[in-house]
Amino acid sequence: MWTVHALPSPAVDIALWRVDIDPHTNWHASLVTGLPLAEEAKALRFVQIPDRLRYIATRKALRQVLTARDGLNAADLVFQPGRYGKPWLASGRHFNVSHAGAHALIAISERGPVGIDIEQVRPIDHLAQLTAEVCAAAERVWLDKSDDTTRFHALWSAKEAVLKSWGCGIAGNLQRLAVVPDAAVPIHFDGIPLTHTRVWLLPGPFGYVAALAAGPEHNPFDGGKAGQTVPTPDRVRRPV
Ligand SMILES: CC(C)(COP(=O)(O)OP(=O)(O)OC[C@H]1O[C@@H](n2cnc3c(N)ncnc32)[C@H](O)[C@@H]1OP(=O)(O)O)[C@@H](O)C(=O)NCCC(=O)NCCS
Repeated sequence: MWTVHALPSPAVDIALWRVDIDPHTNWHASLVTGLPLAEEAKALRFVQIPDRLRYIATRKALRQVLTARDGLNAADLVFQPGRYGKPWLASGRHFNVSHAGAHALIAISERGPVGIDIEQVRPIDHLAQLTAEVCAAAERVWLDKSDDTTRFHALWSAKEAVLKSWGCGIAGNLQRLAVVPDAAVPIHFDGIPLTHTRVWLLPGPFGYVAALAAGPEHNPFDGGKAGQTVPTPDRVRRPV
């Protein structure tokens, strides 16, 4: 099964939780009990039991923390996918989740869009090639301080958290984004500084790295150029 733990957060306006999932949990149909039909169907489409478990545990934990926090009924929490898949709530509450291996992370923000990412550290074939493909020059300088793949995973996690905060997906965007973790250097997108997006590396469980990002209310996506103020993908899809 799984357990949910509140975590310290680097941002006063963002609350964090970690979900620890027992990888030895045996599959049983009752695990989907309580999920809306669409989510139950999605869970059952995962062929691999660990994938199913991660999805179910994360959705149930997300409902648990959202209902405890906002005093809502679990049944009232209907997640709608944004244009690029980021789920959003009609209540306007900002949240994001990430899952990998035996863990998931949940972020809930009081203020605006949030992105979170957890990565399991694994050996990477062709690290130099991958670095050249997805990292900006400033990121490569940061990576050069160590040849440890953990550092690459941490950078990837920071980039993914930023893109998840913006809600736009990683395909085609990772290489346009430059994030230098732990430094007072603004995030750049297409070479343009975006001072309103914040990013933090988080201490992950052993063997994992994680990152959190908080985007501005508006971001450079959905037809706009970096630095312009345009609606986020999620907001474009919101019913008026
Ligand atoms: C979002 C994305 C970066 C997640 O990658 P990942 O490392 O496999 O997954 P993570 O565990 O970190 O995050 C998954 C969670 O992020 C959320 N999510 C999905 N799409 C998202 C997006 N575009 N932005 C932010 N969060 C997103 C979901 O809650 C998802 O979990 P769930 O399916 O259990 O609800 C990747 O799937 C992606 O780039 N998606 C965009 C796809 C796209 O552009 N589609 C266009 C047509 S729909």
